[in-house]
Amino acid sequence: MTDKIGVFVAWPYANGPLHLGHIAGAYLTADIFARYHRLRGNDVLMVSGSDTHGTPITVTADEERITPQQVYEKYHALFTQSFAKLGISFDLFTHTDTENHWRVTQDFFLQLYRKGYIFRATEPQLYWVEGERFLPDRYIEGECPVCHSPRARGDQCENCGALLDPLQLINPRSRLAKPGEPSTLIVRDSEHFYLDLPKFNKPLLDWAKQQTHWKPNVLTFTLNYLRGDGTDDQPTGLKPRAITRDLEWGIPIPSELGEFPTKRIYVWFEAVIGYYSAAIEWAHNNNLGEQWREWYTIAPNVRGYQFIGKDNIPFHTVIWPALLLGYGDGAIPLPYDVPANEFLNLEGRKFSKSAHWAVWSHEFLETYDADPLRYLLAANMPEFADADFKWSEFVRRNNDELVATWGNLVNRALTFAYKNFDHRVPVPAALTDADRALIEKAERALQNVGACINACRFREGIQHAFEIAREANVYLNQTEPWKVIKTDRARAGTSLYVTLRVIDNLKIALYPYLPHSAADLHRQLGYAGNLAGTFELGAFQEETRSHTALTYLAPTTEARWAPSALQGGEPLGEPQALFKKLEDTIIALETAKLGVPS
Ligand code: MF3
Ligand code: ZN
Repeated sequence: MTDKIGVFVAWPYANGPLHLGHIAGAYLTADIFARYHRLRGNDVLMVSGSDTHGTPITVTADEERITPQQVYEKYHALFTQSFAKLGISFDLFTHTDTENHWRVTQDFFLQLYRKGYIFRATEPQLYWVEGERFLPDRYIEGECPVCHSPRARGDQCENCGALLDPLQLINPRSRLAKPGEPSTLIVRDSEHFYLDLPKFNKPLLDWAKQQTHWKPNVLTFTLNYLRGDGTDDQPTGLKPRAITRDLEWGIPIPSELGEFPTKRIYVWFEAVIGYYSAAIEWAHNNNLGEQWREWYTIAPNVRGYQFIGKDNIPFHTVIWPALLLGYGDGAIPLPYDVPANEFLNLEGRKFSKSAHWAVWSHEFLETYDADPLRYLLAANMPEFADADFKWSEFVRRNNDELVATWGNLVNRALTFAYKNFDHRVPVPAALTDADRALIEKAERALQNVGACINACRFREGIQHAFEIAREANVYLNQTEPWKVIKTDRARAGTSLYVTLRVIDNLKIALYPYLPHSAADLHRQLGYAGNLAGTFELGAFQEETRSHTALTYLAPTTEARWAPSALQGGEPLGEPQALFKKLEDTIIALETAKLGVPS
């Protein structure tokens, strides 16, 4: 049976460009996963979009002295560019400021309110006297009440991951106040809507306890969060959470509930709903009617994966499942897995926009190709622990692994066969035991790589493929077709055939990781069609307020996640190097840019 695989990827705040940490955190893993499942013949729906609301956007708008809309339009354009170049194969990458997303969000809000999962309450909030306004979320910072990090934000502590309310901060400060000027925060009542999370506490804990296939850190974090100080029968971790804010940028509260001109729906309430609304938008764009529901129906062949960084865990294992439970009355599937990655650091330090300690994806891709980056990030993925991006590692792994092990193997075998066997795959004579053993190994590796990807063990997957590439190099060195051809043309042809068949298997195994070079190799091996797929950037649509959504167009070739059936005698395409060697000099050049404003 065909599986319906939902690949739901974190919606990046469109308040700054993406850096390599974002790519390693969620986008690359999601893409590897999606590309694998498509080749397996499963129905994949991969969606995300720019997160355009909330204080992250308005704070940036204030800083850059432009409107919130100008902020998100600028970065949304950069996101779609980077994703297309990197080959992150979103069936739809949209944004949250669309008519569709507003409507779906307001429907969630209203339904949950009517079912008694949302209530109104007047609660104390922090009011900034000099600025004459309530200050939500990121307009406030202070000491974390949990880990005592000195610079926790009002919405969440970056250090320990705790979700916070500004009132919980120790010594809260307004981020809008100019240094040196008096700034007074007082507590004042404001009416807001609250999500009644305690109603979901027990059902969510019962559900989460069954998710033993989750990564240990995701599961442990979630169970602790849900249990609180309570017991499994009476967990107490969840408290009601305000889901509106005193802001004028964002999605309005449904008018059925009253007029609230200075309040908007909380960004985290609505951004996660994007996983649902984007599926609807995708179906609408493709004239597929209600077919999006196939990914939102409970059935044994339906699985949704949430690809996120570890700082987003509670929103995807608690808040989003709570919204789905309440909205769908238990008839909408909850996430099957939440394979959150850990963080990627840069030369031993955290990525930081303010310290200019970053490698921005769009800048990186102006100079370097996508596949070497994808290779490095996959081979060094922050899957189970933080990882580090080092320029010296980028150069070393590109030259010593990607080029030396994989690129050279391909290039040696293909150019020799092309030149000496009439531009064709050599027709093999009888295979030796060693020949057969190598082919079988490659076929087993293909299955292993697939199993690893399916289990979200991406780093291990690519290792299996490279192990075989190394063995194939040894095989080629030992069988020496370039020498043997002088005395035994049939034998030389056979060992080349074996090598090409192994390469063809590795092409499929590596395709999810390295789609561009795999597509190039696919052509060189003589296959028709484009294996990588292509991208389309939609135009702005007045009617739906949809901005240049990015859409992936699937491969136009028959390739499947199946052992190679390469035939002797088939014509080959013209060989061409898959990768470029990088100069050592770029290491000093690139590291010198770090920490310096560009
Ligand atoms: N915008 C958030 C961030 O960049 C992620 C939102 S994920 C979603 O951290 F689930 F809310 F969509
Ligand atoms: Zn903390």
